[in-house]
Amino acid sequence: MSADPFYITTPIYYVNAPPHSGHAYTTIVADTVARYHRLAGRRVYFLTGTDEHGDKIAQAAARATETPQAYADRISATFRETWQRLGLRFDQFIRTTEVRHTRVVQAILQKIHAAGDIYFGEYGGHYCVGCERFYTEKEMVDGRCPDHQTRLEFVKEQNYFFRMSRYQDWLIRHLQERPDFIRPERYRNEVLGFLREPLEDLCISRPRTRLEWGIPLPFDDRYVTYVWFDALINYVSALDYPDGELFGTFWPVAQHLIGKDILKPHGVYWPTMLRAAGIPTYQHLNVHGYWLVDEAKMSKSRGRTLSPLDLADKYGLDALRYFLLREMVFGLDANFGEVALVQRLNADLANDLGNLLQRTLTMVGRYCDGRIPAPGDPATEGDRTLRGVAQGLAGRVAEAMEVFAFHRALEAIWELLNAGNKYLDEQKPWELAKRDREALARVLGHTCEALRLAGLFLSPFVPATAEKMWAQLGVTGPVAEARLREAGRWGADGPRAMVRGEALFPRVEFSLEDPGPSAASAPTTEASPASSDEITIEEFRRLDLRVARVVEARAVRGSKKLVELKIAAGSEERTVVAGILLDYPPAELVGKQVVIVANLKPSTLMGVESRGMLLAATDPDGRIVLLAPEKPVAPGSKVK
Ligand code: MSP
Repeated sequence: MSADPFYITTPIYYVNAPPHSGHAYTTIVADTVARYHRLAGRRVYFLTGTDEHGDKIAQAAARATETPQAYADRISATFRETWQRLGLRFDQFIRTTEVRHTRVVQAILQKIHAAGDIYFGEYGGHYCVGCERFYTEKEMVDGRCPDHQTRLEFVKEQNYFFRMSRYQDWLIRHLQERPDFIRPERYRNEVLGFLREPLEDLCISRPRTRLEWGIPLPFDDRYVTYVWFDALINYVSALDYPDGELFGTFWPVAQHLIGKDILKPHGVYWPTMLRAAGIPTYQHLNVHGYWLVDEAKMSKSRGRTLSPLDLADKYGLDALRYFLLREMVFGLDANFGEVALVQRLNADLANDLGNLLQRTLTMVGRYCDGRIPAPGDPATEGDRTLRGVAQGLAGRVAEAMEVFAFHRALEAIWELLNAGNKYLDEQKPWELAKRDREALARVLGHTCEALRLAGLFLSPFVPATAEKMWAQLGVTGPVAEARLREAGRWGADGPRAMVRGEALFPRVEFSLEDPGPSAASAPTTEASPASSDEITIEEFRRLDLRVARVVEARAVRGSKKLVELKIAAGSEERTVVAGILLDYPPAELVGKQVVIVANLKPSTLMGVESRGMLLAATDPDGRIVLLAPEKPVAPGSKVK
């Protein structure tokens, strides 16, 4: 029906554990992409769901002393509810235990079997339950799974095989003819790398004597289907393959989104399965990297997970979305850290975005009686520059979104916000208010128009914030229903009244000693030096304050504020992390004497363990000045 459909899928997640922020990332990316294409006027279909068969789930259910079905029902519901609570607007949530899915899996198996691409044979290999796959001797590390580090069992049994080897040459050709079939390019190259070795046939069954929890093979019910052969088919069963209207509309434009852990099943098994079943292949496989916590992949089996709901509760959903989409370069790994999240929140969201809106609307209130002036024709170089940046945004965002480069799309939007801030600083509307009302209206009109467009383009990324922006700017909303073609034009909206609202993002205050930041709900008041929190001299003596000398200093990677210092206090050297990068370039620190709290409990900041804290004064402008002895003393000297 629609001329321009768009279909995006996430992996269907295993129900052996509740969702963590890694799963949330993929689903938020799909939601962002879906929102962007809706905004661009396309008919969008966004699919997510859960993968519920196989050893891994059967074992997790047994541990929980539940039946596999009851267990899958419960965990699948947590995924669905989590995505709903995160405001993710999927069109369908598929479960592989639904009958309509199992029917399609059986129909496709039957078709491939009838065509002669499935045969019966014997197989021996080292099986990993965690990965649901066999490993060869070469792939194992000391007899263990390279991913899960579990000892692998040698299993020999009769099974059914899919003649995947037959499609190796076709797949190589396909990858060569369609260079953007798998993207970014590094993952296309990785798949071409797999294909340099002979492709083995794929074992697609498990004997029921060993595993009951799966879809029976339609041609031999002593076996159930291998979980990957079952799960991948969700992408077409959800569209009612073969005859559904959805299948006809959306399959020709299918794009999958996955993490790099499941590249081989999606880059090799799935296209060859589709080919064997006579189904055209998908259009693009978009592959992202891992979120790391303390240098390792965030995952349940490694015991390092962060709950997306907890983070959204603590910092707000849009701050979480913005951090995930801005911080990770799509395709590469990125570090997940609360400190980095708060820094992005304060610098980009509260400062660049929130302040620009607030200062603009304060002036519209004060000087224009709350009426948003129309931008009118540009009159100065400054007007033209701002309008030019705003008008160039659509193209830059479109280009970045085409290749899933979300950080680039956001950078482009931030260029507009920065241009807006610079424009106000240069045009000084508060001075124009005294002498040139016409120029004043033009400047505020231009800034409001830039903000309206920024809100429009931000809406796929931070939907609630974009709605607030439009509401405060008095634009007839909701943004979620706007279309780029009309609303994306400079000057598309007429004169209107602003609506006073709250600050978009209150700054989050946190100190480096307390790695658990908390939202500052009320403006912070100056603390009175003579407070009632008196301490005794004994309490003060518990502090071990020392003079130390900075031996080395470097910026902490990925942080805007943190510096990692190696310091010598007497005979001992230690690492201290301090939030002073904005005031002290690392090179200037080397050789300086500083005062440290030496007996502070160690804490880890952005993956670096800090043992101790530097003492500094902060002036009312937020400038940090390090404390030092009045004349040089021996490093290690005690401060009393
Ligand atoms: N059930 C299979 C997928 C079948 S699709 C036909 C599966 N499930 S999973 O629960 O393990 O989810 C894996 C996916 O979750 C990854 O591909 C990625 O999208 C997401 N992530 C899980 N941990 C992640 C990180 N630490 N970082 C980035 N993505 C993360 O595999």
